[in-house]
Amino acid sequence: MTKRPVLQMSGNNILKGTIRVSGSKNASLPILAATLLNRCENTLENVPNLLDITEMCSIMQHLGAKVYHLNDRLHVQTSDITVNEIPASLARTIRGSILFLGPLLARFGYVKLPFPGGCAIGTRPIDQHLKGLRALGADVSLDGGVIEAKALTGLRPGEVRFDVPTVTGTANILMAAASLEGTTFIFNAAREPEIVDLVTVLIKMGALVKGAGTSSIKVCGTSSLKPASHRIMADRIECGTYMVAGALAGQPLTIVGGIVTHQTILQKKLEELGATIFVDGNTIMVYRATNPRAITIETASFPGIPTDMQAQLMTLLATVPGISTITENIFENRFEHVLELNRMGAQIRVHGRKAVIIGVPTLIGTTVRASDLRAGAALVLAGLCANGYTMIEDISLIDRGYESIEDKFADVGASIWREGLGSKAGLPRFQE
Ligand code: EPU
Repeated sequence: MTKRPVLQMSGNNILKGTIRVSGSKNASLPILAATLLNRCENTLENVPNLLDITEMCSIMQHLGAKVYHLNDRLHVQTSDITVNEIPASLARTIRGSILFLGPLLARFGYVKLPFPGGCAIGTRPIDQHLKGLRALGADVSLDGGVIEAKALTGLRPGEVRFDVPTVTGTANILMAAASLEGTTFIFNAAREPEIVDLVTVLIKMGALVKGAGTSSIKVCGTSSLKPASHRIMADRIECGTYMVAGALAGQPLTIVGGIVTHQTILQKKLEELGATIFVDGNTIMVYRATNPRAITIETASFPGIPTDMQAQLMTLLATVPGISTITENIFENRFEHVLELNRMGAQIRVHGRKAVIIGVPTLIGTTVRASDLRAGAALVLAGLCANGYTMIEDISLIDRGYESIEDKFADVGASIWREGLGSKAGLPRFQE
């Protein structure tokens, strides 16, 4: 019988040394999808070695792309894409599969793929993606959990006005618009840095795009997009996770390879709590808060505190004296880690979208389960500073978004190791 891998750690770790941030998962996913638009060989650097990326690349290969590594670069050749349908067996493995909607529809005038489905953090509707594509002339239907979109005479440029800013929805419309002759306007667009990184690639391919990083974006597309070569931006959530680790146990923890300007609000919050942070260029040095104070946190879209940092911040607040609160404004059901943190001795109560955290002197190590990627990261942080041993199950969810998390923490002094069979992270070295 296969023993599923777990992470184990002994508690009360001090983190000292330098930890490096990898390339961004959530920037890599749409950029991989965007390569479908140009029928060329594209070269990507700094693509992280993660399960989500492996699965995205497998879908690309199913569509007909050639994906292979050469000298640490990922080459993606998309001239021979012949398939415009994605089977449920592939699409359901990764929510990012929704990012194929815009590029495949733009390339073929037809796409069929399964609804990516709900997940542990909420229902995650895609109505805004569909609304946007309809505004570009698509005929979209949703039947039995399958999305079918047609634009038999081709999509046309237009005006898309989102009711809520959506990151992958904005990416889908940007990608479609970049390959259409003419001008498309996107209003109430997502402003996240991952959108800016995608736009940088679309500009390299030959589209003219203004306004990325703001809520109004203008895209002048072209039907003859060129090949692109790009270095993926640093992962701002991985960087933020290490900053929280530093605030918990850094003496000091030095973080390199991140982008400081993506962390402005998080840095302010950690300083308000009592952590000491020094910044030099893109090097961030975090000393743990010796006299931490309770704080109030609300998640928001960029440049606010990301929902993807909410669980990790909750671990940090669990042992801060006094009463802290966290309000989750992005996803309606993103508090599954509360149960696990409470099993470790935390005192957290959830009232709708608000969690009230009564600081306890220490967390106690035990066996816990990762319910989603960021919840898993929060449990790693909890295990690192708890008293006694912690074992985390279902760690494949952590491998979706953190590259070699146990090696990186072990290198800065943590007692953490992986046990059991199963792949460690997941990017096979794709061969030509
Ligand atoms: N929403 C709608 N309708 C839509 C789309 C979104 O109502 O058609 C709502 C959502 O329910 C949510 C809000 O809009 O309340 C924002 O959702 P968004 O669409 O921006 O999320 P996403 O694009 O599906 C990306 C990241 C998530 C991250 C969110 C928020 C990727 C692949 N995923 O998801 O990352 O939490 O943006 O920043 O980029 C993670 O990495 O752990 C992760 C979950």
